[in-house]
Amino acid sequence: MRIIAFYSPKGGVGKTAAAVNTAYLASREGVRTLLWDLDPQGASSFYLAGAERVKGRKLSKLLDGQSPIARFIHEDVYDDLDVIPAHSSFRNFDIKLEQEQDGNTLKELLAPLSEDTSLVILDCPPTLSRLTEQVLEVADKVYVPVVPTWLSLNSWAQLREFVKDKKLGVKKLRPFFSMADRRKHLHRDLLAQPEEALGVPALAAIPYASVVERMGEEGQPLERLAPNTVAAAEFRALWQGIRKDLWSR
Ligand SMILES: Nc1ncnc2c1ncn2[C@@H]1O[C@H](COP(=O)(O)OP(=O)(O)OP(=O)(O)O)[C@@H](O)[C@H]1O
Ligand SMILES: [Mg+2]
Repeated sequence: MRIIAFYSPKGGVGKTAAAVNTAYLASREGVRTLLWDLDPQGASSFYLAGAERVKGRKLSKLLDGQSPIARFIHEDVYDDLDVIPAHSSFRNFDIKLEQEQDGNTLKELLAPLSEDTSLVILDCPPTLSRLTEQVLEVADKVYVPVVPTWLSLNSWAQLREFVKDKKLGVKKLRPFFSMADRRKHLHRDLLAQPEEALGVPALAAIPYASVVERMGEEGQPLERLAPNTVAAAEFRALWQGIRKDLWSR
């Protein structure tokens, strides 16, 4: 079982859109995938289930061992794609993790999934907290959307420093451009020299496109909604990069 996360300390940069599209693309290739929506706002559940939004369950029942993690899983939202929906109680995840004695609770929670799941995708809230630290620790790779602006590059640099300081393995951080708008000079300049901007290559450059916003309205991944768009092609490129990261030697 591989564990990946979509994370950035910046809000609204395309984490959830990428997590949902990646989860769907992985499942289409027969990779048994579980998407865990760790954001109490519950956006990924919304992107996937639309109006028939599935209800999450209370976190305390999971953490105090009353319910096994399997009971939190909404199975086969699509073939080979399971979801753990968010619940507003996830906002307490941090406090609960602090209260646990031996620290690595997220890892322990994920362990029983390995029998049925090949890929776990964690969709993270835009905070830098105890929960995020555990995500950064437990994930094999962390995919970081970076909008081609100085502010976003700055938070990418800060995240790398943080991960270096904490010795979590800076190589697990894998950036990709998000909301790229080639009509803007700065975006074009940064996209032309990704390694100079990011220090490492970018896995993809997801364009700014209204069709991505429609995912929320329609409650569907882009590959179902508009597969013949540039944005859908870039999400496919992102998934190819992720697959290579995780399974090729
Ligand atoms: N490539 C894109 N082009 C246009 N709009 C986008 C794109 N990616 C995401 N959006 C829109 O921007 C908003 C934020 O996207 P998303 O929820 O994926 O970001 P996020 O980083 O997960 O946000 P949060 O930090 O709140 O969790 C949404 O309304 C989404 O539809
Ligand atoms: Mg999100």
